[in-house]
Amino acid sequence: MKLFAIESSCDDTAAAVVEDGRRVLSSVVASQVFRHVEFGGVVPEIAGRMHCEAISRVAGEALTQAGLDIRDVDAVAVTAYPGLIGSLLVGVNFAKGLAMTAGKPLIPVHHLRGHIAANYISHPSLQPPFLCLVVSGGHSHIVEVTDYTSMRIIGRTRDDAAGEAFDKTARTMGLPYPGGVHMDRLAESGNPDAFTFPVPKVTGSPYDFSFSGLKTAVINTIHHMSQKGIELPRADMAASVRASVVNILTERFLLAANDLGYTKLLLAGGVSANSLLRRRMSELCAERGLTLFYPELSLCGDNAAMIGAQGYYEFLRGNIADMSLNARAERSIEL
Ligand code: KG4
Ligand code: ZN
Repeated sequence: MKLFAIESSCDDTAAAVVEDGRRVLSSVVASQVFRHVEFGGVVPEIAGRMHCEAISRVAGEALTQAGLDIRDVDAVAVTAYPGLIGSLLVGVNFAKGLAMTAGKPLIPVHHLRGHIAANYISHPSLQPPFLCLVVSGGHSHIVEVTDYTSMRIIGRTRDDAAGEAFDKTARTMGLPYPGGVHMDRLAESGNPDAFTFPVPKVTGSPYDFSFSGLKTAVINTIHHMSQKGIELPRADMAASVRASVVNILTERFLLAANDLGYTKLLLAGGVSANSLLRRRMSELCAERGLTLFYPELSLCGDNAAMIGAQGYYEFLRGNIADMSLNARAERSIEL
């Protein structure tokens, strides 16, 4: 079964054709980062307009690269939630138009479920159940995936998402948007023990995260140094921040895995591209006899192939929308 998939929840306009949830026949991503970089973050109004300008071309390229016509695909999948509403609406309305004119079923996909499904493409024999750390720019969850479409949130961030923590601290250090990837690169040549930051205590749930204390501590440290005229050792700061974020994530994730008895663990979302997170989790899982999966780098960030992968399983479960489908800025991954 071939799915044509569209993703436009943030600042990437993407389209793909995916067969049976695992095989990518084409995947096109048009990034808007070059426009948002001068503002230090995504400007929703600009994002919506740029999706409008790009979506027809991106969709056409995805079909051409797959050597297909829209009549040759079996269904249209689209990210319907969560995300920037003005961005989501462009993809959802485009998908509705396509599905209606081509007479194909329309499948709404949750963006974070898509991030998890990126792993099905990179690891074709991977199947639920497993425990997944979903870390993106807008969300940080530990998710129990009992089946392709059955999910339960075990832990979540109380404030900033992990990607947001990277982006905000990177911005304080003068790194360009999106800061996570720049900080990751800079951190490779720094000393992670140069600065120590407080470990957050989250009362109530042992599996919840908090990054706001770290963000404040980093901002204060940088301001104090600049007031005293001390030059910031940027690589050391990047390495120390990265190590703190990764420690918080890995500690809570492995605690949840141990308590719930999961031995199959996954990483997903933009932050799963982080080189220390991948390395550290690989080491810790090897020591504990756990199996770890993460997507290939090209599938960690936003793309439509992952939406096509998850869309296949949503279709099998009968999750098909009619023309009243609307985008939603917020919606739980549990649905
Ligand atoms: O999943 P994603 O592409 O978009 C959302 O759904 O939010 O995630 C984007 C986030 C950004 O915060 C970005 O800085 C972060 O992922 N990110 C990274 C790395 N690559 C992207 N964070 C840390 N290290 C990276 N290598
Ligand atoms: Zn994403």
